[in-house]
Formats: sequence, C-alpha cells, structure tokens
Amino acid sequence: MSISLAKVIPFGRSLAEYQAMFSLSPEDQQLNILDCGGGPASFNGELTAQGGHVTTVDPLYQFSATQIKQRFQASLDDVMAQIEATPENWCWSFHPNSADLKQNRIKVMERFTADFSQGKASSRYLEASLPQLPFKDGQFDLALCSHFLFLYSDLLSPEFHLQAVQELCRIAKEVRIFPLRTLASQPSTDVEPVCRMLRSQGLHPEIVQVEYELQKGGNEMLRFSIPSSPT
Ligand SMILES: C[S@@+](CC[C@H](N)C(=O)[O-])C[C@H]1O[C@@H](n2cnc3c(N)ncnc32)[C@H](O)[C@@H]1O
Repeated sequence: MSISLAKVIPFGRSLAEYQAMFSLSPEDQQLNILDCGGGPASFNGELTAQGGHVTTVDPLYQFSATQIKQRFQASLDDVMAQIEATPENWCWSFHPNSADLKQNRIKVMERFTADFSQGKASSRYLEASLPQLPFKDGQFDLALCSHFLFLYSDLLSPEFHLQAVQELCRIAKEVRIFPLRTLASQPSTDVEPVCRMLRSQGLHPEIVQVEYELQKGGNEMLRFSIPSSPT
C-alpha cells in the first residue's frame, strides 16, 4: 500500500508507553518482537539499547528521518489544539496533562530520528505494509500493533482488518493490538468480527484491561496466541 506523507500524522510513542499499552513483562521484552505500523515510535530504539530484539515495519519508512520529522513538526500544534478542544475525550493518568504529552511526543521523535538511519541499515526498520508482510511463518514470538488497526476503523475496511490480523497470525506466535477504539473515541466495530474469525480458527482472543489510558475508555488491548502447528 503506498501512502502519502501528507496523509500521515507521524506521532510516536515511547518504550514506557508500549510497556503500559501491551502489559509487557521483562520476559516479553526479551522475545523476538515485531512492531507493526511502528511509525516514529522510539520503542525499537529504546528496547534495542537495552538488549532487546525488535523489527519495526511501516510504509512511512520510504521517507527519510528528516522528512518524517518535518511532517511531525508541521502537524504538532494542530493535533495538540484538537486535543485541547475536546477535553471530554482524554484521560490524564499516564500523561498528567497536554503539555507533558506534547513534550513526550517531541522527545520520542528525537529518539526515533537519532536511531532511524542506523536501525534501517541493520534492517530493524523495514518499509512494509499490512496486509502482506515479508516474513516467514511464525518468524516472531510477539507481534505488536499500536494505534493503527481498530483506531482507523473509519478509514480501513472490515476486510482489511480481517486480512491484516490473519497476516499477523501467520508470522507471529502471539499478537497484541491496542487500542480497540477509533480516532473518534468510539469502540471499533471491527473488534467483534476479528474475534469471531479468530474463534472460528480455534483461537482464544482475549480483551485485556491495561494500565495505559489516554483516549478516555481506551484502556483495553486484544491479545491472542497461535499454537505452533505439529511438524
Ligand atoms: C498513529 S501511527 C502509530 C505509530 C506507533 N505504532 C505508535 O503507537 O507510536 C500509525 C502508523 O501506521 C502506519 N501505517 C499506515 N498504513 C499501514 C499499513 N498498511 N501497514 C502498517 N502500518 C501502516 C502509519 O504510517 C503510521 O506510522
């Protein structure tokens, strides 16, 4: 899928946010992890610096770090103004207030930019897009998808969601997706069809409450494991 940089608001989250959004244990953080739709998150750079093994994919990686940062800087004030204009939609628990959130997003972008060239050279950042990823079956222990599936349910079709989740099942032994709400802070109508598809395949999707909440009510992730097929 090709994307235009103008259509993406490249906001990224930190390792601490990924830990809270996905309830990542110290053991989880030693796994071979795929971050799908990682954008300018600093999760890969921060966890790699601590000895972790993360591959991040995103169509955004067709652009340079400078281009991604310029797009971020061009959209930052607009996005912060939208957040401040809709106080009823936000929960200030993980981030104490919008000023803290803004500083966090700037810091994450700086960390991402500092890591991107080196990480791209060592294939930690790969340009790739759901619903088809260039990986072998079961290549990752854990696939994470933050703020892409379900969040963009108003833009991405139900079929796209089913195909994308099927692809994550193919390449990972466990999948976690956060949040389960749309950009308009409504529960995504794609969650139930995705769960139905997974159950029809004998899997056991669980909706789990997590400690991260920024969108009000957006403190749930979907997780499921894929048993390895008998050899
Ligand atoms: C809101 S950002 C989330 C970034 C990061 N996961 C985080 O939580 O900080 C959504 C990302 O999804 C990426 N994206 C768009 N289409 C995609 C696709 N088909 N497959 C994977 N990622 C995609 C965008 O480029 C963008 O970087």
